[in-house]
Amino acid sequence: MRKVAVVGGDGIGPEVMAQATRLLEALDKKRPLSLTLVQKDWGAERWLKEKVGLPKDALAELKAEYSAVLFGALGDPRIPDMAHGREILLGMRFGLDLYVNMRPAQLLHPRLTPLKDLTSLDLMILRENTEGLYAGVGGTFKEGTPEEVAQDMEVNTRLGVERIQRYAFDLARRRRKKVCVVDKNNAVRFGGSLWQRVFKQLKAEYSDVEATHLLADVAAMELVRNPARFDVMVAGNLIGDILTDLGAAIIGGLGVAPSANLNPGQVSLYEPVHGSAPDIAGKGLANPLAAFLTVGLMLDELGYPGLGPAIRDGATQCVAAGKTTRDLGGSLGTVAAADALLEHILARV
Ligand code: NAD
Ligand code: IPM
Ligand code: MN
Repeated sequence: MRKVAVVGGDGIGPEVMAQATRLLEALDKKRPLSLTLVQKDWGAERWLKEKVGLPKDALAELKAEYSAVLFGALGDPRIPDMAHGREILLGMRFGLDLYVNMRPAQLLHPRLTPLKDLTSLDLMILRENTEGLYAGVGGTFKEGTPEEVAQDMEVNTRLGVERIQRYAFDLARRRRKKVCVVDKNNAVRFGGSLWQRVFKQLKAEYSDVEATHLLADVAAMELVRNPARFDVMVAGNLIGDILTDLGAAIIGGLGVAPSANLNPGQVSLYEPVHGSAPDIAGKGLANPLAAFLTVGLMLDELGYPGLGPAIRDGATQCVAAGKTTRDLGGSLGTVAAADALLEHILARV
């Protein structure tokens, strides 16, 4: 038996994770998965009650005993600075060294995109996930005075930049053999130069892959203008954060965008791209589709052939039939949308 930690988290997190769990249980009845799901209560409630975000031994326990973490979302209006989120979510991304944040932008149905003339899209956006501007290096000086200084330093290591770009080139080799490296080297001098030098080295090494480079601002524009020109796109942590929400918007919004935080071969974390959506939390309106596709990514990575594709195909059929939540133009609530998805997916397993 392999163990999967299930962290609902806050807001709509537990609502969509309840449906993701139903999916795993239903799949298991058709084809035994040998996965044990263990619920974890990490989130705002525990933080507010006990001041505990990620419990002390959690990282060691995850590394020693678990194959995956399936994660809902964090974010609570009572914790406006997201202190618990940084400890729990960034704590796992950094503490488990999950250096690849893989965020597919795959269009399930042409109806979902706000872009005119886009009929299909299969794009993988990779975001460096363990350094950059998220490293937490910095501080304040003269805080609270008119001369206040606030600094966040961007950290780029040779190891960090090379391993994420190498992952992108390797992934492109298994796909349409095109990679686009995105940075802002014309303005961000030192880190930008490192991203460029690694890019040139790998471009020479992977001569079978068509490697291009774009500055981040142009990349954002091109994603809207002609996203289908891209196969694999790779960027640093903050630029990747922004580009992947743009990618989500292109395929129908946060309700359909899944992600995987990977340290290949090690315990990894799978989560929908969306947050806790306090505006719709508790109302039964959350779209469970992103969480379902996230389960698909987890099953792909854990090595269950056919199940990820069945989830994606079932989701496509459901969207085509209009059986969706309101964010996608349908009228179903969370549970009814999950029922419809389950029916289409299970028919393919
Ligand atoms: P959000 O993703 O929670 O919501 C943005 C918009 O998208 C909202 O209008 C919301 O209703 C809608 N939306 C999101 N997911 C949806 C779904 N599954 N179905 C239907 N509609 C959906 O982003 P936000 O409002 O900027 O942030 C809310 C909180 O979540 C903040 O505290 C933020 O820090 C946090 N957050 C957490 C994560 C995470 O845990 N990975 C990611 C992003 C934001
Ligand atoms: C995401 C989120 C997180 C990030 C926040 C909640 C810290 O926006 O997963 O994209 O910036 O990485
Ligand atoms: Mn984000």
